[in-house]
Amino acid sequence: MKVLGIETSCDETSAAVVSDGTIVLSNIIASSAKDHSPFGGVVPELAARKQLECIIPVIRNALSDAELEWNQLDAIAVTKGPGLLTSLLVGTTTSRVLSSVFRLPLIGVHHTFGHISSPWLECDEEIHFPLLTLSVSGGHTELWFRESHTRHTLLGRTRDDAAGEAFDKGASLFDLPYPGGPALSQLASGGNPHFVPFPHPLRGEDTCDFSFSGLKTSLKYVLRDRGGLAALSVVERKDIAAGYEQAICNHLLTRVGHAVDTHQTIKEIHVVGGVSANSTLRTLVQDFARARDVTLRLPKKMSYCTDNAAMIAAAGYFLHTEQLSLAAGRFQTDASVSL
Ligand code: KG4
Ligand code: ZN
Repeated sequence: MKVLGIETSCDETSAAVVSDGTIVLSNIIASSAKDHSPFGGVVPELAARKQLECIIPVIRNALSDAELEWNQLDAIAVTKGPGLLTSLLVGTTTSRVLSSVFRLPLIGVHHTFGHISSPWLECDEEIHFPLLTLSVSGGHTELWFRESHTRHTLLGRTRDDAAGEAFDKGASLFDLPYPGGPALSQLASGGNPHFVPFPHPLRGEDTCDFSFSGLKTSLKYVLRDRGGLAALSVVERKDIAAGYEQAICNHLLTRVGHAVDTHQTIKEIHVVGGVSANSTLRTLVQDFARARDVTLRLPKKMSYCTDNAAMIAAAGYFLHTEQLSLAAGRFQTDASVSL
């Protein structure tokens, strides 16, 4: 079953064709991140204007890369939310028109359901449920216990900022450009994470929840107490950034550990979302999974970690196979829909 995926929830315009939820025939991503950089974050109006301009060319490229015509597709899957409303509407309105013109079923996909489906992309091994998914993005940080593609229980979520937000806000305290996660990680690379101690959020609490706002405040005070950014040497900046990055990743790992301890049937750990591209986090979870003898799966490519339409096409396929009657029905574009 060949599904055309369309994703426009934030600053990206992406279209992809995926066969049977795993074989990626194309995955085109056009990002307007550079246009937002001077503003320190995504400007919704600007994002939607760019998306209007490029959605049709991006979809055309996805079809031509896949070497397919419209009549060779079986369905369209589109992100219905959450995200920026005007951006979402560009994707869902375009999809509704295409679905009607080409008589293809249209599947509305929750953005997080897209992320948690990303480990299936290009995976040629069988994936075993029940599994634990840590979904870490700019908009959410959640731990899911999953018994099938569509049967899942939320074990914990962030009580304040998302992990990606913690990276982005930290990066802005270091005067780094948006998007901050990769920039902060680059600054932290080679730094000494023990130079400045950071707190352990929710330490000792019997929960799978997360909290990142305290870490961000600590970073603010560390920088202030040392005379501000201008007073720091390059090495000191690197060391402080490394400590901050390590504290975020350690916090994520303690919650994964807690979930594995309390759910002993878990066969695999998946880490997905933009922050799963972070190399410090990858190393920590790899070591943890090896020590616990649990299979770890990360998205096969960095472009499957951050927002992309291939994961939406895969998710659409899984929704269709597990919930046939529900999947291709009506849905609302909803900026704050829950999974
Ligand atoms: O999944 P995603 O592309 O979009 C959302 O659904 O939010 O995630 C974007 C987030 C941003 O906060 C970005 O700074 C963060 O993922 N991110 C990273 C890295 N790459 C992206 N954070 C830390 N290290 C990275 N290498
Ligand atoms: Zn995302």
